[in-house]
Amino acid sequence: MSSVIPRLGVNIDHVATLRQARGEEYPSIVDAAQVSLLNGADQITIHLREDRRHIQDYDVEAVRLVTKRFGKPLNLEMGVNPEIVEIAIASTPEWICIVPEKRQEKTTEGGLDLLDETNYQKVRDAVDKIKSSLKDIKISLFLEAKLETLVKASELNIDAVEIHTGEFAKVFSNGDDISKFIEQYKNAKEFLQTKKIACHAGHGLTDESVIPLLESKIFEEYNIGHWIICHSLFNGLSHTIKNLKATFEAHPLK
Ligand code: PXP
Repeated sequence: MSSVIPRLGVNIDHVATLRQARGEEYPSIVDAAQVSLLNGADQITIHLREDRRHIQDYDVEAVRLVTKRFGKPLNLEMGVNPEIVEIAIASTPEWICIVPEKRQEKTTEGGLDLLDETNYQKVRDAVDKIKSSLKDIKISLFLEAKLETLVKASELNIDAVEIHTGEFAKVFSNGDDISKFIEQYKNAKEFLQTKKIACHAGHGLTDESVIPLLESKIFEEYNIGHWIICHSLFNGLSHTIKNLKATFEAHPLK
């Protein structure tokens, strides 16, 4: 039987962050998507934020052309703002990942709060709108690995949950005990499996912090951005992705 390797989604938002910092046309987001896919990325992830601080509307179209050409999925992260939902639908990505979004935050700061009824309704409306507009679309929700939240999520028409790994990654980088996170993630996976919902991971991960997660064989997909782009400054994007992909290949799910 051939082995199953967890998928590597490369988030290229930070290439656009650099470009926007100077209002130039470089570095090219299209090149970033191409180089990532040529060197082993299984999908490209971008986040179209309401404040357009990095990815612009035209980037979504441009990256979409690249992922189509490579026959690989585009994973579009977004909040539930109706304007963004319309753009997302028009761009026909394979995946949409719904995330919470606050204008003041530096980055997505945690999972969606589905225990807040107003939030829950907004997420449900966005999920229903997207699913009724795009026949083959798959939707994931960015969540904390908390059972109450996962139970609420499982009542929605979703295909996956992306577990927020930001806090885990911080604890790992401080050299502290990560066993409580692995336990939480295992429980999350066990519950999601009973609902036939896939289990993805993302946020704050590096080539080192991803290893205990790969070893735990819990997640079938990882979305990694900031570390990849930062490491690429000194090591190159091709090399960084090739090495990370080799690490994934050394940790098959089965
Ligand atoms: N997954 C989600 C849902 C995110 O919001 C982000 C950040 O845009 C990532 C993954 C990637 O996180 P990082 O850039 O910290 O690797």
